[in-house]
Amino acid sequence: MAQVTTPDTADPARPWALLAELTHACPLHCPYCSNPLELARRSGELSTGEWTDLMRQAGALGVVHTHLSGGEPLLRPDLEQIVAAAEAAGIYTQLVTSGTGLDEARLSALCDAGLRSVQLSVQHADPRANDRIAGRPSSFAVKERAAALVRRAGLPLGLNVVLHRDNLDAVDDLIELGVTWGVDRIELANTQFYGWGLLNRAALLPARDQLVRARETVERRRERLAGLIDLVWVVPDYFDGVAKPCMGGWGAVSLTVAPDGTVLPCPAAASVPDLDAPNVRDRSLAWIWDHSAAFNRFRGTGWMTGPCGGCPRREEDFGGCRCQAYALTGDAARTDPACGLSPDHHIIRTLADHSSSQVPPPYVYRRPGAVPEAH
Ligand code: SF4
Ligand code: FES
Repeated sequence: MAQVTTPDTADPARPWALLAELTHACPLHCPYCSNPLELARRSGELSTGEWTDLMRQAGALGVVHTHLSGGEPLLRPDLEQIVAAAEAAGIYTQLVTSGTGLDEARLSALCDAGLRSVQLSVQHADPRANDRIAGRPSSFAVKERAAALVRRAGLPLGLNVVLHRDNLDAVDDLIELGVTWGVDRIELANTQFYGWGLLNRAALLPARDQLVRARETVERRRERLAGLIDLVWVVPDYFDGVAKPCMGGWGAVSLTVAPDGTVLPCPAAASVPDLDAPNVRDRSLAWIWDHSAAFNRFRGTGWMTGPCGGCPRREEDFGGCRCQAYALTGDAARTDPACGLSPDHHIIRTLADHSSSQVPPPYVYRRPGAVPEAH
């Protein structure tokens, strides 16, 4: 691991976004999940009081938007109280859900608490394919019902689709599904390979021509849907030769709180060794943001070495993704191998160039204990 310098942090900008991972428990078993392989136990989750206090602290720190996520946040029986706490702190709430567990009474209670919008995941436009990817029978039918409920409640509804080898050819049908369900926004997010997604990379990596076709479809449909549905394409950085501005920069605009109260600069940061990740049970959110070693480690540009150090794009993409640099090179301070200028770019090129000729292995579905501890 390369030595990194700590930048001057006298006045780091305030965060505006909070990803609140309320629980790692989930009724679905998606193989692309970015949650860590070691899922947090329910007994270790923050209590209602701890989450409500965290929302108060987040509002005071400047956070104005939170994704209430997981796992499946609806599995928290106190979700309404957490939503109400965010609302009281002046934070816009978006529920990120698989739809499982959403019924009319629950949605009504969440709306009363102040819920502002819903993002619903879907795995495929074909119900059987959807249920196979999700690892749960009848999950498509549940999502369809959830979408109708949200529409009836009048909340903004977004569809989130994680794209990979097994659904990229269905992009047109997925967009049509969004039209049928009356959504306001469709996020087509090419898989980011962290956690379970990284474990399942060989099964999920698409062929380059699948991506070309899907991208063309999105462009064509975007023109036709302009003004009706916001169509978002999250780039496949394994294939584009360009590093993504991950999280808008490390410790720059957002923070993630894991179910057990660990506070991280991004959802995958727990994978970076020696991070000394702080916990909101020990320290205030403000102290963590301003002073913790974890948040300062890759903040700004002072830590950059190699091609990033003198690169004119370093203020735009922040050197790419630290977690991906670690996962692929063993050194989180190296230039993200997704970048064509990285000396490690061949690692990603090889994976991308050979994906179409590989026979994909079966999924390792996300569930506690699915991965041997020695992995
Ligand atoms: Fe971005 Fe670094 Fe690549 Fe420059 S060298 S484009 S800053 S990742
Ligand atoms: Fe951690 Fe990109 S996911 S920095």
